[in-house]
Amino acid sequence: GLVNTREMFEKAMAGKYAIPAFNFNNMEQMQAIIQACVETASPVILQVSSGARKYANQTILRYMAQGAVEYAKELGRNIPICLHLDHGDTFELCKSCIDMGFSSVMIDGSHLPYDENVALTRKVVEYAHQFDVTVEGELGVLAGIEDEVSAEHHTYTEPDQVVDFVTKTGVDSLAISIGTSHGANKFRPEQCTRNAEGVLVPPPLRFDILEEIEKRIPGFPIVLHGSSSVPQKYVDIINKYGGAVKDAIGIPEDQLRKAAESAVCKINIDSDGRLAMTAAVREILWTKPAEFDPRKYLGPAREWLKELYKHKCEKVLGSAGKA
Ligand code: G3H
Ligand code: 13P
Ligand code: NA
Ligand code: ZN
Repeated sequence: GLVNTREMFEKAMAGKYAIPAFNFNNMEQMQAIIQACVETASPVILQVSSGARKYANQTILRYMAQGAVEYAKELGRNIPICLHLDHGDTFELCKSCIDMGFSSVMIDGSHLPYDENVALTRKVVEYAHQFDVTVEGELGVLAGIEDEVSAEHHTYTEPDQVVDFVTKTGVDSLAISIGTSHGANKFRPEQCTRNAEGVLVPPPLRFDILEEIEKRIPGFPIVLHGSSSVPQKYVDIINKYGGAVKDAIGIPEDQLRKAAESAVCKINIDSDGRLAMTAAVREILWTKPAEFDPRKYLGPAREWLKELYKHKCEKVLGSAGKA
């Protein structure tokens, strides 16, 4: 069946790698994730956002994840699969997912005043732990780019708060803010420098803050949101075939490799999958304009996605071979 994150994170901590947390909203994304993780023998966290619930229906996604467990076995490997609520914002939403069979939830109270974040997170933990469901909390706020207005404003996690937060709440893992952000425009080009090949290199993540946090709560599982690397090859294909994705910059893979070797045990990736899928669909519809069977473009999109996820497990997170 579906498993919580406890044993996954213990092994990831000891083995110095990170578990991939891939978002899914539809069947093709789920299949690509499972195929990739079976082929690379990687444990995996399937994440459902509030947006995914609205798009696809929570019940359907929950049973799709159950199907994923059977699908993995059918493909030849019984890998550990966790079904996790991404960015839960209320107790009621977390409870609804727990009651329906999710094995892990995130309660994101990071925008709230500290004491309210503690109280809300504690309430979710008290409920979740009765059912052996693990809980991710968050301290610090990721910068966001909304309506094409880029607000360069991270509220980095305050290392002095983490002991108090994990003790008072009882959370199983902690998401932190050290310079990552959601979406495909994580940095403005003018914040970056160019390397010898002319590739834009963004400012590094705040590993100094991560190290401070690790000192305060040694061995405690840390989570990184906003960790897509935004591969330029997908952006180029999208734009070649009629798209207009501008100034897309992600977290360089070497930064993510370094994070995976630390106490970071879960790395969230959604945007890269969106880019891969869109690149495939755009290329096919552009080059084969007579095609109108969705399987003819969603099938290849699923293949591109699978290759992306395999690359993440093998070359970035180090989770390949751990299941
Ligand atoms: O954290 C955000 C994830 O990428 C999910 O995004 O709410 O558009 O599904 P979404
Ligand atoms: P990206 O937008 O960088 O893929 O981040 C996804 C995420 O953090 C989901 O919670
Ligand atoms: Na790690
Ligand atoms: Zn996130």
